[in-house]
Amino acid sequence: AWPTLGARGELRAAPGLLHWGGGLNTPSWGYNGAALGPLLEWRAGEAVDMTLVNALPEASNIHWHGLEVPASEDGHPRDAVEAGQRRAYRFTVPEVDGLFWYHPHPHGRTAFQVAMGLAGPIRVRGGRSPLPADGIDERVLMITDQRLLADGRIAPHSDADWMDGREGDLLLVNGQYQPVLSVRAGGWLRLRLINACAARYLHLSLPGHLWRQIGADGGWLEQVQAPVKQLLLVPGERADVLVALDGAPGSRAVLQSLPYVRGKMVSAEQSRPEPILSVHYQRTAAQARPPLPRRLADIAPLPAPAVRREVVLSETMSMEGGKHQMAFLINDRRYDDMNRADFTGKVGEVEEWTVHNRSDMDHPFHLHGAAFQVQWRQASAQHPRAPETLRAWRDVVNLKPDESLALRFVQRQPGDRLFHCHILEHEDQGMMATLRVV
Ligand code: C2O
Ligand code: CU
Ligand code: CU
Repeated sequence: AWPTLGARGELRAAPGLLHWGGGLNTPSWGYNGAALGPLLEWRAGEAVDMTLVNALPEASNIHWHGLEVPASEDGHPRDAVEAGQRRAYRFTVPEVDGLFWYHPHPHGRTAFQVAMGLAGPIRVRGGRSPLPADGIDERVLMITDQRLLADGRIAPHSDADWMDGREGDLLLVNGQYQPVLSVRAGGWLRLRLINACAARYLHLSLPGHLWRQIGADGGWLEQVQAPVKQLLLVPGERADVLVALDGAPGSRAVLQSLPYVRGKMVSAEQSRPEPILSVHYQRTAAQARPPLPRRLADIAPLPAPAVRREVVLSETMSMEGGKHQMAFLINDRRYDDMNRADFTGKVGEVEEWTVHNRSDMDHPFHLHGAAFQVQWRQASAQHPRAPETLRAWRDVVNLKPDESLALRFVQRQPGDRLFHCHILEHEDQGMMATLRVV
């Protein structure tokens, strides 16, 4: 059983040893143990008081990814907790009903610390669920990937990892390698998915089954979506989906990630489906599948913006110490000053940002402090703008090369809010900037 914690408690970040069986051990870092951090179960409106105890050999902190918390409590890289120190994070859980996650955010060290194992999920319950009370089997699946050396140690970042983002050949679910998910035929399987990989795009498929999306990063969608065969989940992103359990009792299906080309510069693109977990139908008789509601939630569109800004993601080659280095930039700048404001905005004002990807690879764009709604997308300057038909609260959105999109949001609290590429190696190398909210 996976440990859970409520809104008050301690997260002790410390080195530990992961045991895979067969004598293979991996020195790793974790919260309250060597594996993935505990599942935090919170209620909207409740007071959080979580203490980070930093027993790591370096500075770290905690960012509550996707949750609107005061800037001082949100794990800004300026607020790193030194090795051997502790600090409390205190805030009120916002009025949301969704799946979020926590991970370190120290400047330049996020990719390394997450690769060492520091991350965990947060399930926030708020309001009444629009879903039927019975016949739904809900599971949180936090997907990560890992690469080990022959002796079991975590493989260090390679030069290619610093360009393309680090992927591992081992796909893990809730810290386990290819686990079995046992289900009963009939009913619905509700999967609460988090892509917590540094750079791997998850192109999910469960052969013989269809996905009906009901929620995105920030919580419920307005309606149950039409069934689809595949679901793309980019780094940092979450999805809430229902799968009809209509396999025969005793049968199996394998959840896998299908190839997805994301414009890697050095490493090979994924070419084969990769298994993530197996779903095993129990032999017992099927249960009944309850009908789904037509409406899940209301999402009010955001009014016309008070401010419009342009954000350009790009990459360039530079020379550093006689070596060619890739630089990942936002509006031609690298994040190299934690106190610089790239934009200044106001509390309560609607912002509309047009984000352009002027590089040759996909980048998952992420914003702190507020969820956003995507307004339109444009595949390239030669294409027309397509209005976004799915209204959803998100905090991560992918941009393909040459793509542009517009998003709207409102920051409701003052402070410095980061926005960055959620390929953690790109973030660490400076594809990050600051919106100062006053
Ligand atoms: Cu999940 Cu700024 O990060
Ligand atoms: Cu975040
Ligand atoms: Cu990127």
